[in-house]
Amino acid sequence: MKLLHIDSSVLGPNSVSRQVSAAIVDRLQRTTSGFDIVYRDLATTPLGHLSGSHLAASQGAAPPADLLADLSAGQTVLDEFLAADIVVLGAPMYNFTIPSQLKAWIDRIVVAGKTFKYGPQGPEGLAGHKRVIVAISRGGLYGPDTPAAVGEHLETYLRWVFGFIGVANPEFIVADGIQLGPEHREKALASALHAAATLKAA
Ligand SMILES: Cc1cc2nc3c(=O)[nH]c(=O)nc-3n(C[C@H](O)[C@H](O)[C@H](O)COP(=O)(O)O)c2cc1C
Repeated sequence: MKLLHIDSSVLGPNSVSRQVSAAIVDRLQRTTSGFDIVYRDLATTPLGHLSGSHLAASQGAAPPADLLADLSAGQTVLDEFLAADIVVLGAPMYNFTIPSQLKAWIDRIVVAGKTFKYGPQGPEGLAGHKRVIVAISRGGLYGPDTPAAVGEHLETYLRWVFGFIGVANPEFIVADGIQLGPEHREKALASALHAAATLKAA
């Protein structure tokens, strides 16, 4: 079974989402043996943002020489995603949504003909056979009854993106209120780590 583990926080060892995504992978490894794990750190090895040259190359135009390495990196991340049975993603909230490094990755995996297609009924996801587990960390509180709920574009965005490519039920482990003070941070992290440690086996 192939597991793709991705982190996107820029905060290195101080990152909450990195700790929780690692705990999720640890839990899955303990409960199921024989994982083939690929790890990708989007903060230390960022992908380039899409450009007109990327899109022209995808339509068959000869790419400029300075784009070749990035096109190859993009193909690699798409191949990694397509091959994965389980995807574990660390996703912090930056300015109410995902980090731009994670958006650059999403731009490489949401690809017509590979992970979705348009048909007579509209868009159809082609990546529905995967299990996707996301470790989310947010500085504030964004529960349904909070005033900030309307500004939540991290979990809602990822739900939509994964749903669009066919993953109907992505799983989320949430550490909220990380910036509300050390006590709140400890409690939220402990709760998320507990959720990771008791996650459904692979
Ligand atoms: C650049 C930046 C932007 C942030 N923007 C938000 C935000 O819009 N809303 C929020 O609740 N927290 C925000 N935070 C706080 C982070 O979501 C919080 O610290 C979270 O734990 C980050 O995840 P990490 O610990 O895995 O890096 C921001 C943090 C950074 C570094």
